[in-house]
Amino acid sequence: MLEVENLICEYPEGEGKTVVGLALPSFQMKDGEAWGVEGPSGSGKTTLFHCLAGLLTPTRGKILVDGVELTGLSEPERAKWRAENLGYVFQEPKLLPFLTIGENIRLSAYMAGKKLEEVRLRDLLQEVGLPDCEKRFPRQLSGGERQRAAFVRAIVREPRLLLADEPTASLDGRNSERLLDLLLVYQAKSRCMLLCASHDPAVKRRFTRKLELRKEGEKC
Ligand SMILES: Nc1ncnc2c1ncn2[C@@H]1O[C@H](COP(=O)(O)OP(=O)(O)OP(=O)(O)O)[C@@H](O)[C@H]1O
Ligand SMILES: [Mg+2]
Repeated sequence: MLEVENLICEYPEGEGKTVVGLALPSFQMKDGEAWGVEGPSGSGKTTLFHCLAGLLTPTRGKILVDGVELTGLSEPERAKWRAENLGYVFQEPKLLPFLTIGENIRLSAYMAGKKLEEVRLRDLLQEVGLPDCEKRFPRQLSGGERQRAAFVRAIVREPRLLLADEPTASLDGRNSERLLDLLLVYQAKSRCMLLCASHDPAVKRRFTRKLELRKEGEKC
């Protein structure tokens, strides 16, 4: 279960000033649920995901995952928690440039302590339409291909909490539907908690549960 209590996240803006990146009232998400995260550009979707990933400490509020208070963990404890519990499809794919696609994905599973059969890796790459990319480097792929590889990298960790930040942003309609199908099938099978941020109407309509963020000035 994910429990979020009145989150405020402020960024320093120089001269002692701050800007509110996120203001969100409390909510709870149960195991096996999939939610869409909506809101205009700048409303704090990525900021929320960074907080949920323990990459950013909110200025105020609490985050608990399965009863563990993320905001109360030290940095090494948070790194361990991330390795064991989190899958993150970043808004920018962030693949390691000096490793091949296959190595990026294997490393991700290894860091999470998960065994990844070679045949499963090949099947997943096939399913996302990257059958010949295992030995290629990220720079040799298009933006959309990197995004699909980053999706595979996130799910081989078998995460408890899966965050997908604009996972279809660089994809055409067909590949976008395909990736979304895989994301939702994976979520239903694994019963992980999924939060998926998107501006894409085709993505938004696939989620019945929604978390709506508002821009600063309109924040609740
Ligand atoms: N590192 C930072 N330093 C200062 N302000 C930041 C920083 N990161 C984000 N912000 C501000 O916080 C607000 C929320 O940003 P965020 O990236 O979370 O929005 P978003 O909803 O993900 O937008 P988009 O849909 O464009 O990806 C914005 O006003 C942004 O300018
Ligand atoms: Mg964003």
